[in-house]
Amino acid sequence: MEFGLIVLDSYSRWENTYFCFFKTKTMIFDIIKRRRSVFPAQYNDRPIAKADIEKILEAANCAPTHKRTEPWRFKVLQGDSKEKLGLFLSGKYKENDPSPKEFKYRKLQDNPNRSGAVIAICMQRDPKESLPEWEELASTAMAVQNMWLCCTEMGIGCYWSSPGLIKYMDEFFDLKKGEKCLGFFYMGHYDGEIEAVPRIPISEKVVWL
Ligand SMILES: Cc1cc2nc3c(=O)[nH]c(=O)nc-3n(C[C@H](O)[C@H](O)[C@H](O)COP(=O)(O)O)c2cc1C
Repeated sequence: MEFGLIVLDSYSRWENTYFCFFKTKTMIFDIIKRRRSVFPAQYNDRPIAKADIEKILEAANCAPTHKRTEPWRFKVLQGDSKEKLGLFLSGKYKENDPSPKEFKYRKLQDNPNRSGAVIAICMQRDPKESLPEWEELASTAMAVQNMWLCCTEMGIGCYWSSPGLIKYMDEFFDLKKGEKCLGFFYMGHYDGEIEAVPRIPISEKVVWL
């Protein structure tokens, strides 16, 4: 842990523990505030290390899960498989849209290639259906938020893309019974700062009783 390096000789063991705890609490709020959607057009060519992707997936696996169904499933695409995904999405778009736009067709084709990696976000429904589906979706979304925050800390840009075309993903992936694709987690290194998207103040969304 990074915090293990913050050792002051004159501090007692207890004081160090307290200091680390305080620092952790401060940092998670800062990372939440810094999280952004960073799109493929903003990525540079720097590859994403496999060890970094593994760490990001490990963060996903720590998400909360009702009845421990652990419904999140991921498919990591790099190299040729990214290209195949771009061809599949753009092809499906052209096939199914009565008036396809060249710009959108190109974007669907190029986005995976511009990314350092793409992670398909899937949800595996509990075969016993012991929970309502929304709980499995919520749990998977929490896993994605863990990945997003982890990327923020690591300086990797990312965002969740959910095109209508995800309904065709069973033709691209070998999805199991009850497994659904919920979109793509595009990832890439980037340069510079990304503007924050403003939010309506929280005070307008909360009722204190
Ligand atoms: C479930 C989900 C699906 C999303 N799908 C898309 C998408 O298909 N296309 C897109 O441009 N952004 C998508 N986004 C990202 C939002 O556009 C983004 O979160 C929002 O603009 C706020 O920006 P921020 O993430 O930088 O705070 C999605 C976000 C979520 C949580």
